[in-house]
Amino acid sequence: MEEKLKQLHQEASEKVKQSTELKELNEVRVAYLGKKGPITEVLKGMGKLSAEERPKMGALANEVRDSIASAIESKQQALEAAAIEKKLEQETIDVTLPGLPVKVGTHHPLTSVIEEIEDLFISMGYKIEEGPEVEKDYYNFEALNLPKGHPARDMQDSFYITEDILLRTHTSPVQARTMERHGGKGPVKIICPGKVYRRDNDDATHSHQFMQIEGLVVDENIRMSDLKGTLNLFAKKLFGEEREIRLRPSFFPFTEPSVEMDISCKICGGKGCSVCKGTGWIEILGAGMVHPNVLEMAGFDSEKYTGFAFGMGPERIAMLKYGIDDIRHYYTNDYRFLTQFGRAEFN
Ligand code: DAH
Repeated sequence: MEEKLKQLHQEASEKVKQSTELKELNEVRVAYLGKKGPITEVLKGMGKLSAEERPKMGALANEVRDSIASAIESKQQALEAAAIEKKLEQETIDVTLPGLPVKVGTHHPLTSVIEEIEDLFISMGYKIEEGPEVEKDYYNFEALNLPKGHPARDMQDSFYITEDILLRTHTSPVQARTMERHGGKGPVKIICPGKVYRRDNDDATHSHQFMQIEGLVVDENIRMSDLKGTLNLFAKKLFGEEREIRLRPSFFPFTEPSVEMDISCKICGGKGCSVCKGTGWIEILGAGMVHPNVLEMAGFDSEKYTGFAFGMGPERIAMLKYGIDDIRHYYTNDYRFLTQFGRAEFN
C-alpha cells in the first residue's frame, strides 16, 4: 500500500508539473483528489490493515494528498500569473505609434468675413447692435419712412406672420430701434450684423434667408463726405489698397440722398470682364444720408442732427473676396467647401 501511495504521489506530481493550462490542472485535481480518485480508493482498503499499520498508512495517505493539493495550488498560482503576464504583454500600448488625427472645426467663410468687418468698424469706434429677427412692421418699414401702401415695400417680398409682425427683410429696423433708445441724443455709431428673410426662390445668387450688416452714424455735423471716407476705408481694408470706389445715385426710402457703392473689379482691373459684366465695377452696398423723417420718427431733431447709413450683404462680399460662385454653398454644409477655409495648420 505504501508503494502504491508513493507511486500515486510521483505520478500526480509529474502531471502537475506537465500541466500548461488551468483546465488541464483542474483535470489532474479531479483525477487524483476527487471522491472517485485513487487515493480515496486506497483509503477504502485500510480496513484490511493491521491495527499498528493503519495509523501509519493513514498519515502517509494524508501527507500524499496534502502534498499533491499544495503542488496543484502553487502550479495554479504560477499559471494564473503567467496568464496575466501574457495578457499585459499583448495589451501594451506602443507610445511611439503615430496618433489618429483629430478633426478640428474651422470658421465658416461667412463668419470670418463678418468678424473681419466687425473688427474694422470696432476699431473706428462703432458698437455692435442686434435686433429681433421676428420684427414689427413698424420698425421694418414704417419707422424707415415706408408707410403702409408705400410702393417700395414691394422691393422686399416679406414673410408676414400677422398683419403687424414679419420676419425682418433687412437689418435696417435695428437703426430705428437703436435711435429710439437713444432718446433723441447723439452720437449713435453702430453696426448691426444679422439674419434677414425674403420671399425669394433660391438659386445661385438668391436665398430666402441671408445675412446683412447695417451701419449707422448720427451726430451733429455728419456729412456725405464722412460717409464717403468711411466707405472708401472699408473697401480698401477689405478688398485691397489698390481698389477704387465710386458712388452712384440711387433710391432708398430711408435715406436722402441715396447712393450705391461700387468697387473697381479686381479680376480685370477695370477693363471689363464677366464678373463685373463688362462694366469694370462691382456693386457692394447701399447707403445714404439718413432721411429727416427717419430721424424725427425716432425722436431726433433733424435740424440739429444728421447721419449716414449703409447696408451690405456679407454673402456677396465673401463671394467676391474668396471667389465663391454660388450662394447655396454657404448653407448646404458641404464638407469639401467648408474645409477650404480652414486654418492651414489643421488641414
Ligand atoms: N436695407 C437696404 C436693403 O436691404 C440696404 C440699405 C441701403 C441699408 C441703404 C441702409 C441704407 O442703411 O442706407 O436693401
